[in-house]
Amino acid sequence: MGISILGMGRYVPEQVLTNDDFTRFVDTNDEWISTRTGIKERRMAGWEPTWYMGREAAMSAIKSAGIDPADIGLVISCTATSDFHTPSMSSIIQHQTGAVNAAAFDMNAACSGFVYALDTARRFLETDDNMKYVLVVANEALSRFIDFSDRASCILFGDGAAAAVVEKSDKLFSSHLGSDGSGAELLCARALNVAPEVALKNGFKDPFPEMELHKLRQNGKEVYKFAVQALPRAFELAAEKVNITKDDIDWFVPHQANIRIIETAAKKLGAPMEKFIVTLDHYGNTSSASIPLALCESIENGLIKRGQKLALIGFGAGLTYGGIILEY
Ligand code: UT7
Repeated sequence: MGISILGMGRYVPEQVLTNDDFTRFVDTNDEWISTRTGIKERRMAGWEPTWYMGREAAMSAIKSAGIDPADIGLVISCTATSDFHTPSMSSIIQHQTGAVNAAAFDMNAACSGFVYALDTARRFLETDDNMKYVLVVANEALSRFIDFSDRASCILFGDGAAAAVVEKSDKLFSSHLGSDGSGAELLCARALNVAPEVALKNGFKDPFPEMELHKLRQNGKEVYKFAVQALPRAFELAAEKVNITKDDIDWFVPHQANIRIIETAAKKLGAPMEKFIVTLDHYGNTSSASIPLALCESIENGLIKRGQKLALIGFGAGLTYGGIILEY
């Protein structure tokens, strides 16, 4: 059983931070950021909480799907940058969108979040005959977790949200989700203070013992190495289940972290870059929101059309990765 994406919506904050803006407080320049990452500018949440961006994206997805929110059976919000430890973003969004009959939970698979959540949505739809629609929302405010004194990471991220309303269908669908927790320490933001020696004794080496609470740290080079093998692998593992090759795919929608990662993945897959949707130049890396933002924008501007075959491929902290092949 597959799913059909009935409607999508997105929200990005108005505030734009360009590469040149960073030069006011960090030792960097547009040339370095552009050539090393492909990013030119990103959006920064000002007053907007994460749930608000998700709610706006969700409302517009519901409108575009043309459904009654009371018919939504489940709301899944994927986020690594929740406003609260509890309540979940999805409970807030469930209430605010009028999805009065829906269950709600959050899911954190970092930048692979949307792929994980969409696959989870399909599984709920498959096993619950009474479930009509699932609302999947990816909402992220990375700017609140950035260490603006770390020039190698602060220039990468941006804020935004995108959402999809899905229902069951017999269209093409395949997925593969994976995780390699041996790289868990490569990309971290600490939520609570646990003494590093306690963590070490219990099997998780604290990578950044001096790390401030809620500030994101990463080993960029190692994450890069993981990413360039994870993206092709995510596609291949999903594709082989349905006998699909890269030539059958109309559009690859990859996680938007770094243009060099996408180019390397394209080369490894032997697929032309023209088939890869790229939005990181204007949004940066918005974690779980990056794939659905790219998808939604490309549907709106007419690039992605009904009937086309898509490959959504992501990787992220965890380290997680995942691929979904579906017909739009
Ligand atoms: O959703 C997943 C999120 N994470 C990722 O996808 C991260 C994947 N990794 C990357 O995208 C890349 O590793 C980065 C963009 C983070 C870094 O690119 P790099 O080519 O691996 O650069 P580097 O870390 O090797 O740094 C090269 C040089 C260093 O200077 P020296 O030691 O050669 O003198 C850095 O200090 O560039 C310097 N540098 C900068 N210079 C200007 C690092 N950041 C900056 C900066 N502006 N913002």
